[in-house]
Amino acid sequence: MSQIKIITVIGGGTMGNGIAHVFAMNGFEVNLVDTKQELLDRALNTIEKNLDRMVQKEKISDADKLKTLDNIHPSLNLGESVKKADLIIEAIPEIFKLKKQVLSDIDKHAGEHAVIASNTSSISITRLAAVTDHPERFIGMHFFNPVPVMKLVEVVNGLETASEVTKLIEDISRELGKVPVPVNDSPGFVSNRVLMPMINEAIFCVYEGVGSPEHIDEVMKLGMAHPMGPLRLADFIGLDICLDILNVLYDGFKDPKYRPCPLLVKMVDSGKLGDKTGIGFYNHE
Ligand code: 3HC
Repeated sequence: MSQIKIITVIGGGTMGNGIAHVFAMNGFEVNLVDTKQELLDRALNTIEKNLDRMVQKEKISDADKLKTLDNIHPSLNLGESVKKADLIIEAIPEIFKLKKQVLSDIDKHAGEHAVIASNTSSISITRLAAVTDHPERFIGMHFFNPVPVMKLVEVVNGLETASEVTKLIEDISRELGKVPVPVNDSPGFVSNRVLMPMINEAIFCVYEGVGSPEHIDEVMKLGMAHPMGPLRLADFIGLDICLDILNVLYDGFKDPKYRPCPLLVKMVDSGKLGDKTGIGFYNHE
């Protein structure tokens, strides 16, 4: 199990392409799997753009960029890509039914030695692990956006995750230049249990007319040294994702303190999801 060389990332969205980027940049062979050629093309374009940015900032050389791109093998064939992998990382949308279907497919094809990790932001790792035949080899590997920049990997242990799997994921995170922090499975883990109530409270401040998004963000940036204010960050994460995570906290703890702000619900209903739709608390067009 200690020899992790080939990684298969399922899903080429924001998180998936970032995860593929950092593994490939650190010398791993990466299979990047998605369901449509255009999604793979988009993922590779994003990776190339982010690598260019790193070349411009002189963080990597042109040769490093080419080597990184060489290490990434886009694929539409989940079974073939999973079969070859030592570590499979699922990074598909946060819909339990969809994850269940894809994880059981991954489990069918994964080798006996392979570890399966989920990049889920809040769905129970124990519940996802139960979809597979080997919950002891299943773990949460929660990266943060933008993946090439953010240092944290929240390593989430399910009820049955084996301690050697936790150690393996911690070691491999360090090989990527990241800092692994182990936590146990609980709604929202630590990151989103602490982050989302802050974002929700900031949205309540807009809803109740306490301040404008700009002023609320200014308070948190200048007073608390946050790189982005909570409302700018909510747009960056995606308001639909924030709502999904708050609902996981609300349902998981049955505590009204996690009740999503009605303004957040309305914005998601109206399709104002933040950066990805061009409009959220800010206009990004
Ligand atoms: N790929 C590679 N490099 C990138 C990048 C990317 N996608 N995005 C930014 N960078 C680099 C830039 O090149 C720049 O490099 P430098 O330090 O050498 O100049 C550095 O990151 C800073 O970027 P910028 O100068 O463009 O802009 P900012 O200084 O405003 O930083 C930011 C942008 C890094 C996004 C910063 O605003 C930030 O840290 N914001 C908070 C992000 C955050 O909290 N993320 C976590 C979200 S929660 C999550 O992901 C969990 C989920 O479960 C919800």
